[in-house]
Amino acid sequence: MNGPTFTIDGRSVPFTEGQSIIQAAREAGIYIPHLCYHPEFRPHGSCRLCVVEAGGRSVPACSTPAVAGQQVRNRTERLDRMRRTLVELLFVEGNHFCPACPKSGNCKLQAVGYWLRMLDTPFPYLFPRRELDASHHDVLLDRDRCIFCELCVRASREVDRKNLFAIGGKGTRCRLLVNSPDGRLGSSGLSLGDRALQVCPTGALLPRKGAFHVPVGRRLYDGRSIAESDE
Ligand code: SF4
Ligand code: FES
Repeated sequence: MNGPTFTIDGRSVPFTEGQSIIQAAREAGIYIPHLCYHPEFRPHGSCRLCVVEAGGRSVPACSTPAVAGQQVRNRTERLDRMRRTLVELLFVEGNHFCPACPKSGNCKLQAVGYWLRMLDTPFPYLFPRRELDASHHDVLLDRDRCIFCELCVRASREVDRKNLFAIGGKGTRCRLLVNSPDGRLGSSGLSLGDRALQVCPTGALLPRKGAFHVPVGRRLYDGRSIAESDE
């Protein structure tokens, strides 16, 4: 049976009614960069990395439904330049010291930076002061590495049913908040098996033990680009 199709950069992509552009693209093996999107959760639409051109407009692929016959452009110089700028801004707004981070090689922010060929940034580093939370026996919360994608917020609420996280503050004062009696991870009820911990795309929420079980050089994005290893 022939279903509806649209195109991405000239390639025909089948979809089912109600699917977003990014969902159909993933099924067709086409990578559209993203950081706040995860197939298990409703789109959040905050990172804007997934913006594509469709119907003469720039739209987020994670929350825009696919339309039959539509021509979508994903890999254009303009879009990739905009994505690179967004990633550069994430790097200067936080404190991302990749070579010293245990998540290096498994981090989506780092991997998408490589994929976009980001080498440096023209923006001044802000070096914000953010509180490190090492109060939990098994998990470290390093707010320096948080990109406010709210994946942990959604996972803790919708999968773990614990509602442990929220984002507070605005702009450069944005912080990940922990919903516990003293606002710290140690008293929060977070456990190692929580989905919230697993979906964090960066090293912000990180198991404290076993960070180097898989050696650097053999990690998810060490040998392949994020476009080939997208989860
Ligand atoms: Fe996203 Fe991780 Fe920050 Fe949660 S802790 S908002 S999952 S980067
Ligand atoms: Fe669409 Fe972040 S993935 S806005």
